[in-house]
Amino acid sequence: MPNVIVVGTQWGDEGKAKVIDYLTERSHVIVRFQGGANAGHTVIAKDNKFVFHMVPSGIMYPDKTCIVGNGVVFDAEQFLSEVNELRDKSIEVKDRLFVSDQAHLVMPYHKIQDSASEKYKENSQIGTTKRGIGPAYADKAQRIGLRVGDLLNTDALAAKLKANLDLKKTLLENSYGASLNLKFKEVFDSYCAIAEMMRPYVADTARMLHESIRAKESMLFEGAQGTFLDIDHGTYPFVTSSNTVAGAACCGSGIGPTLIDYTVGIVKTYTTRVGNGPFPTELLDDTGELIRAQGQEFGATTGRPRRCGWFDSVMVRKAVQVNGLTHLALTKVDVLNCLEEVKICTHYEIDDEKTEHFPSNPNALERVTPVYESLPGWKEDISECKKLSEMPANAIKYIERLRELCYNIPILIVSMGPERTQTIEIETF
Ligand code: GDP
Ligand code: IMO
Ligand code: MG
Repeated sequence: MPNVIVVGTQWGDEGKAKVIDYLTERSHVIVRFQGGANAGHTVIAKDNKFVFHMVPSGIMYPDKTCIVGNGVVFDAEQFLSEVNELRDKSIEVKDRLFVSDQAHLVMPYHKIQDSASEKYKENSQIGTTKRGIGPAYADKAQRIGLRVGDLLNTDALAAKLKANLDLKKTLLENSYGASLNLKFKEVFDSYCAIAEMMRPYVADTARMLHESIRAKESMLFEGAQGTFLDIDHGTYPFVTSSNTVAGAACCGSGIGPTLIDYTVGIVKTYTTRVGNGPFPTELLDDTGELIRAQGQEFGATTGRPRRCGWFDSVMVRKAVQVNGLTHLALTKVDVLNCLEEVKICTHYEIDDEKTEHFPSNPNALERVTPVYESLPGWKEDISECKKLSEMPANAIKYIERLRELCYNIPILIVSMGPERTQTIEIETF
């Protein structure tokens, strides 16, 4: 397979991991390039269900190499617990799972800072996952972060940890009126133990990727979150703290854009969002409840109920552009089986003016009225369909209309269930 980036086109949880797992069979190396343990990526394969937060979703295939790139904020405890869980299920990761020595560490004080910062905001909370993501990226930008490579140098680790604990204590007390009950010796000792366990995984992963390129191996880049959680292109400030768009795959892993062949956008055939922020097509009624129940829309990281709404083509058109998508992969079409009619948002009205474009101005976004087109539902189980032509005519019409509204770019995959087998491949690379 060529080199492919996979990203979410909405607010995350589009089913990226299912598609990554499906495409992994034909790739050699699977790379996470941004985000951290805020991601919850569910893979169901051969009666095993895993929710990965740190380990790339390609790990289920025993002969694939998985890499956590430099752009990720790395939660070592979470990573090691996933490795243990994999071992318990006889999935060996030795010599095929690596973490960039340049990835920044999410430390215990980042999680405390994340919670304190949210609490401080009272009525304007982002609704973060409290996994310490924002504070870890902030320290990276401020150039005070600890990196995975620092784990292997005890003196540097001690000095940086001490300085950061002092700084965070002052920050938490003075800015948020919170306390930091972390003792240097305890944190240091626990990270020395973590360092020993991490040693086999730490590598110069950018160099490894270039060796793969020379060996003509193919790379699959696994995005986390979604386009509208991107710190630049998303619904700021209700976003995460990294660039989630396809462009981030290059800087978050250390390869150049000329090496990318295709970019696939994962599109849930309705819309969900966890956390706060604008959501033009949100359904606050029984239909929203029905979709949540049918789609099991509860956060894979925090368990929070996901907000649900109609498919919004205005958003996905923007996602096609900012990611340079070459293909779409449609997921969870089966969830819509339960509906008599299915609506698609075709455009917005803002102050009585029609627009087909997602507003870059957050104030305008607050004034959006979504305009819908209604299509008949199909009310039929589609989860066993093996070809698009086996689907009910109304389901095919829905898929075709959705594609038309998204600049007619090719659909690579249609997914109608969480299992690997519940996948129809429409195009091949
Ligand atoms: P990700 O963060 O984008 O990888 O997605 P999550 O794992 O957070 O959430 C997607 C959920 O939908 C998971 O529970 C998947 O097992 C499930 N899923 C993925 N594709 C499909 C599908 O086509 N149909 C159904 N019913 N479930 C799906
Ligand atoms: P995957 O990869 C859905 C949301 C949080 C919150 C905002 C900021 O599984 O699609 P953060 O903890 O990142 O500072 O929270 O972003 N968020 C996600 N929502 N899926 C995710 O990841 C998310 N990662 C973060 O709910 O609104
Ligand atoms: Mg998820």
